[in-house]
Amino acid sequence: MKNLLENPLRVGLRQERTPEPLIMVIFGASGDLTQRKLVPALYHLKRERRLPPEITIVGVARREWTHQYFRDHMRKGIEEFSDGIDKEEIWSDFAEGLFYCSGNMDELESYQKLKAFLEELDGRRGTRGNRVFYLAVSPKFFPPAIKQLGGAGMLSDPIKHRLVIEKPFGKDLSSAQTLNQVVQKVCQEEQVYRIDHYLGKETVQNLLVFRFANAIFEPLWNRQFVDHVQITVGESVGVEERAGYYDTAGALRDMVQNHLIQLLCLTVKVLQATHLADLKNLDRCAIRGQYGAGWMKGKPVSGYREEPGVNPESTTPTYVALKLAIDNWRWQGVPFYLRTGKRLPKKISEIAIEFREVPLLIFKSAAQQASPNVLTMRIQPNEGISLRFEAKMPGSELRTRTVDMDFSYGSSFGMATADAYTRLLLDCMLGDQTLFTRADEVEEAWRVITPALAAWDAPADPASIPQYEAGTWEPTEAEFLINRDGRRWRRL
Ligand code: BG6
Repeated sequence: MKNLLENPLRVGLRQERTPEPLIMVIFGASGDLTQRKLVPALYHLKRERRLPPEITIVGVARREWTHQYFRDHMRKGIEEFSDGIDKEEIWSDFAEGLFYCSGNMDELESYQKLKAFLEELDGRRGTRGNRVFYLAVSPKFFPPAIKQLGGAGMLSDPIKHRLVIEKPFGKDLSSAQTLNQVVQKVCQEEQVYRIDHYLGKETVQNLLVFRFANAIFEPLWNRQFVDHVQITVGESVGVEERAGYYDTAGALRDMVQNHLIQLLCLTVKVLQATHLADLKNLDRCAIRGQYGAGWMKGKPVSGYREEPGVNPESTTPTYVALKLAIDNWRWQGVPFYLRTGKRLPKKISEIAIEFREVPLLIFKSAAQQASPNVLTMRIQPNEGISLRFEAKMPGSELRTRTVDMDFSYGSSFGMATADAYTRLLLDCMLGDQTLFTRADEVEEAWRVITPALAAWDAPADPASIPQYEAGTWEPTEAEFLINRDGRRWRRL
């Protein structure tokens, strides 16, 4: 993430600007991301009057669609997955700026055709040669698309031309380095926007404001006061219809390398000093798991290997738990436990900072009951922050009880937080890279998980992959990972 760590409060000082007229070109226009997230986010911005009237969106994909078909398909996405259309005149104004251009990601002619079409649109829509190219395609197309865009001169102006790259950025450290080289051959770093949608979440940005704009927490943010940190990103959904991608990626690539490591970075500000806690004994710091059949909301669900499109012998992890260590003055000796999985009991993302136990010598009788303080930042759902502490129970005996001090976005601000893509797309159109991942950062994130990737990519007996029942929190092996240290996963 750029600049934000050097100047965290910038986030709060951003002015409400409107982007210059531009064409946003979305490669992967027939895919889910475009229909469910990207175009609904752009439409939301249009409704909020955050876009210039000239805004033009060109979808590119292989299928032979007409402009009208593309418009209708996008409208369905807004109706099904987002706020819906409340004013027809806003929709028709927006739809007039939606175009479709079929093309093949590998073929030079497709880029020549696209270039000519964009130039024609500049004349019709007044978009002045400003472009944002959004790669919402399978990662195998990133290198050819970037080379072709570069070759066709479509990324030649560092001010007018921007490139947005979806995750996963590579599939391991060396492919990420190669991809960075491909990018750097045709672009300046200030043109490149590597997206991690977690950074667009309101609550994630609030992590820094919370730390740096509140004098009382910063002094506690270190090994002297913190016992350990738990970062959880749980999902109740299974692999859905994404087996083709997911079975080659798995939870470590799909979630940990990006979203969980970003949450870690915002909590501790350092990645270079971070590593798996016990590199000689991987089993003590990295556990994978796969969901088996089970129950979700009272209904039976299949195990991962029985899901459509998944290899019945698959060893791809749908669950990962890691213990990380950070070797610097501030954090040495404080374990960071990260876990994420599909088909867990509920969708929940949070960061919990558990503070050290107090000796409580003056309250001997209460000491047995006292729990350590925990500061929890709830990323989603029920976004907010709570602080757990001990209070004396009313009565003549000295007994304590654990209570919570709670802040919730909903009740304090009375408004729903916007979808992460809304914020990120707007920032990119405004040329603000603060919430995007830098080249070196993406490589560091891969480095942290490389030992686990290397071990888990090796062929394995499917029977050796720890299983957990769908609708439960983790395989037993992951419980041992933390119980061995005398700690427990939070029950959420
Ligand atoms: C995506 C992953 O990046 O994030 C998905 O590819 C996952 O597998 C999703 O479901 C979770 O995002 P969110 O915003 O719903 O927590």
